[in-house]
Amino acid sequence: MTNYVRIFDTTLRDGEQSPGATMTSAEKLEVSRALAKLGVDIIEAGFPAASPDDLEAVRRISEEVGNPPRGETDGKIPTITALARATKGDIDKAWEAICGAQKPRIHLFLATSEIHMKYKLNMDRDQVLERTMQMVKYAKTKCKDVEFSPEDAGRSDPQFLYKVLEQAIKAGATTLNIPDTVGYTTPNEFGSLISEIFKNVNGIENVIVSVHTHDDLGLATANALAGINAGARQVEVTINGIGERAGNASLEEVVMALKTRHSIFGFDTGIDATQLSKISKLVSNYTGIPVQPNKAIVGANAFAHEAGIHQDGMLKHNLTYEIMKPEDVGISQSKLVMGKHSGRHALRVSLAELGHSLNESELDKAFIRFKELADRKKVITDVDLEAIIADEFYRPRDVYALDGLQVACGTMGLPTATIRLRGPDGKIHVHASIGTGPVDATYKAIDAIVKTQATLLEFNIHAITEGIDALGEVTVRVQAKMGTQTMDAQKEISYPRVYGGHGADSDIIVASAKAYLAALNKLIVAQMESENLPFPDLDVTLVG
Ligand code: KIV
Ligand code: ZN
Repeated sequence: MTNYVRIFDTTLRDGEQSPGATMTSAEKLEVSRALAKLGVDIIEAGFPAASPDDLEAVRRISEEVGNPPRGETDGKIPTITALARATKGDIDKAWEAICGAQKPRIHLFLATSEIHMKYKLNMDRDQVLERTMQMVKYAKTKCKDVEFSPEDAGRSDPQFLYKVLEQAIKAGATTLNIPDTVGYTTPNEFGSLISEIFKNVNGIENVIVSVHTHDDLGLATANALAGINAGARQVEVTINGIGERAGNASLEEVVMALKTRHSIFGFDTGIDATQLSKISKLVSNYTGIPVQPNKAIVGANAFAHEAGIHQDGMLKHNLTYEIMKPEDVGISQSKLVMGKHSGRHALRVSLAELGHSLNESELDKAFIRFKELADRKKVITDVDLEAIIADEFYRPRDVYALDGLQVACGTMGLPTATIRLRGPDGKIHVHASIGTGPVDATYKAIDAIVKTQATLLEFNIHAITEGIDALGEVTVRVQAKMGTQTMDAQKEISYPRVYGGHGADSDIIVASAKAYLAALNKLIVAQMESENLPFPDLDVTLVG
């Protein structure tokens, strides 16, 4: 047993199952490129049986990230896997989606807890054992790398679980993943479960044991680490810990715990931790799910010191209150003070220090945004620069783009917004609406032009930096009233998809308009993708 722990990222599958985390296929492609750069070993790119869009997104990732043209990759190529229920139909779709990857893997699952077998599957133990054998064998006829997950292993009878795992090994599984599907176990319990699996399952020494933990009791990271200590050499995680319900174990927490406490764990991963901050923002912007400020490793306050005693200690020596350096996870403090008089060169250098290397035309765009902000804000911080990059580049290219906005509001009249949008046809559309407030009026004016059937589910606003001139950041979630559907893997029901949008500006109504448009644009793109309509602007532009 070596000390190398494989990082299996499931942001695009379990993560995308979080309410509202829907990403377009272009965004998924961009996230998988960033995951490859981060150094993950396995990317779970989706669940192809859920919909033709999901299959197509996994197919593109397999071909473009899982099989990059020679010379385009400087390091390892990740394994690309897709999830399948234990049915021939699902396995066929998974294989169709991943067969273009250099290192494909089929990941199939079947529940083994009494509750799941009785109420969800309506199968008895013998039937589950038989189905495991048959479906692993079937997957093996397509792909030599097969992972099997006994769903709800954390609540399964261990004696039955061992039998199922033995059956999967006999049928040819190469990785056995042990999910605590409902986040029910505690670290001691989960660690013992993994140790007992090593003691009681014949042939276990010939496969990789993996752990997959959920955060319902806030124990996902602790459980994952307990599983690794007990012998697991693959861990399934997501960026920012997004996932079903309370989410999955977060990649950044597991990786930084192993790295920072290497002397007690003694395990290595292939992750380049300096990419963590960037990929966290990318995923947050694409999903529209904000990262809580006190989130370990990637939260805005993770390296902030507020109390006087702490600040005093930090000024004397940063080891007083810091167990990791911000630079370790890719947060660098620019040495240049940026403001109104800073030029293109200074901007290029500051952005490069933050890890964004822009080409000339990207720098032109960023410079325009920088100058606009510098006219309104005295000192431009790294956080402002990151917001400009995210707003300008980490979003789908506009179907409808904001061309102008004027708002009248206050106590003296009806809140009114006049909006000017550039449509996909290149034409300018103008509309004025009244509303209960300036944001409502703006959204009504946008709705009148875009005419998409969507319901606004959530609206969040916060100031990115301190001070009255701070940039405002808005995230929204909208739900399609019709059209794009997603399927629940377990229950075979479909429901409308939820799309997130993000916008930043020193004018909060402009930021609100951008966020709403970003979400509607995603919804439109997804509808066009699902109807297979050609659309010239599907690609996203990304820098860095
Ligand atoms: O939580 C779970 O059980 C899963 C499986 C499909 C691996 O996500
Ligand atoms: Zn899961």
